[in-house]
Amino acid sequence: MAQEDVFKKIVSHCKEYGFVFPSSEIYDGLAAVYDYGQMGVELKNNIKKYWWDSMVRLHENIVGLDSSIFMHPTIWKASGHVDAFNDPLIDNKDSKKRYRADVLVEDQIAKYEDKIEKEIAKAAKKFGDTFDEAKYRETNPRVIEHVAKHDALVERYKKAMNSNDLNELREIIVDEEIVCPISGTRNWTDVRQFNLMFSTEMGSTADGAMKIYLRPETAQGIFVNYLNVQKTSRMKIPFGIAQIGKAFRNEIVARQFIFRMREFEQMEMQFFVRPGTEMEWFKKWKETRMKWHQNLGFGADHYRFHDHEKLAHYANAATDIEYKMPFGFKEVEGIHSRTDFDLSQHEKFSGKSIKYFDPELNASYTPYDIETSIGVDRMFLSILFASYKEETLENGESRVMLKIPAALAPVKLAVLPLIKKDGLPEKAQEIMNTMRFHFNCQYDEKDSIGKRYRRQDAIGTPYCVTIDHQTLEDNAVTLRNRDTMEQERINIDNLLSIIEDKVSMTSLLKNLI
Ligand code: GAP
Repeated sequence: MAQEDVFKKIVSHCKEYGFVFPSSEIYDGLAAVYDYGQMGVELKNNIKKYWWDSMVRLHENIVGLDSSIFMHPTIWKASGHVDAFNDPLIDNKDSKKRYRADVLVEDQIAKYEDKIEKEIAKAAKKFGDTFDEAKYRETNPRVIEHVAKHDALVERYKKAMNSNDLNELREIIVDEEIVCPISGTRNWTDVRQFNLMFSTEMGSTADGAMKIYLRPETAQGIFVNYLNVQKTSRMKIPFGIAQIGKAFRNEIVARQFIFRMREFEQMEMQFFVRPGTEMEWFKKWKETRMKWHQNLGFGADHYRFHDHEKLAHYANAATDIEYKMPFGFKEVEGIHSRTDFDLSQHEKFSGKSIKYFDPELNASYTPYDIETSIGVDRMFLSILFASYKEETLENGESRVMLKIPAALAPVKLAVLPLIKKDGLPEKAQEIMNTMRFHFNCQYDEKDSIGKRYRRQDAIGTPYCVTIDHQTLEDNAVTLRNRDTMEQERINIDNLLSIIEDKVSMTSLLKNLI
């Protein structure tokens, strides 16, 4: 199936089965804002639990926080967001469509990379086992040409971005002959900066209202609470603070479903370390976070690191964990070595000392920070892409299945009486009433058993139990596995212990230690 079709199918699947709805749909929607339905909210909560438990429960030196969305406006001045949280935008004069200039150039870089990879793949197929990739890269004229163009563009782009040279950014777009995908023309405006923060007013105008911002990241709530947490938890460096919460950005180009939203959710952890040790911790957190992703079992080849060409003003190292979406490898998580920038800025702007006294060194310093920052919505999307399967069964029928890891699945067990009479629904309700205390279950007595299995496959339920007439005699049910479709007869007394282990978060978390 073409990747574009997969994408479209998943978007409509999300709507049909109650995972994601466009926001304000009965009023024709609101661009780049989405609501999570009855299945979506369960999956989202499970993703958040997987992250939270892996951070806060598995690390004795990481604690949680829930700071407010509204914060003092000076925080955003100190953090640099008021002056520098901008995207460079450019308009096509013919289509009147607006684009991020940096994204246009990055897409062009990706095109060169794609061309190189295609040449290599073609040659590897042609020469088989005798293929020497390194030599081919050095000698093949087409590869050499693409690499030269790629490297020159990367260098020029890096320079333009690092020096904030908007004219040069436009020149690159012109020189690379990048066209608007809608109009097909190169009739571009100048590049301008656009601040992404939403603002509102707090207090009545008579009292003099204060302009405040909806936070564009949860991180600053952690930095400004650093002292509160460190003192009250008696944490010693190195230690971390984790937080999950909403963030808001007035994205210029909001597209690709829940990939780029104007209201979204982040799971961020700031890990405070001794200055000079930050690269060691950066490396450790890169490994830890990649392991967390790969632990879901979608295959290591679905992930890659992408080191930043251009470092943000606060960082001395940064990388993204990218997931292979149908529209290419895309960022799901950022890992940044933010130095002492944020704490130092808040010290400066608030006038309060945020130093840490290190008893081992007998010295005070402003801690350095390693940040791991992942978008809940992008994680959600990557799980849907990885788990969406269409299968043709042996009997010629087809099924759509979400092969979501059991611990993250919205519903863990479906309880299905074979028919709606003869005491089977009552027996099924008995099972529901035992199981519902342990995990999320769904009772369904409508339609044929086959149709009910299909419905559960489509929402990713890993197990179904069927209660039939025999159950009333031998206290046994048929347990059906979503992935293999195998069925086995088991005693109801053993049901909980058989399923609980497979669907519990513990089973996922244990692999991380
Ligand atoms: N505190 C650092 C920070 O916010 P970021 O790279 O701008 O870094 C971190 O964002 C993560 O938040 C991204 O990797 C992505 O998963 C998610 N994210 C950022 N903007 C988003 C948007 N508009 N829609 C959905 N998720 C977004």
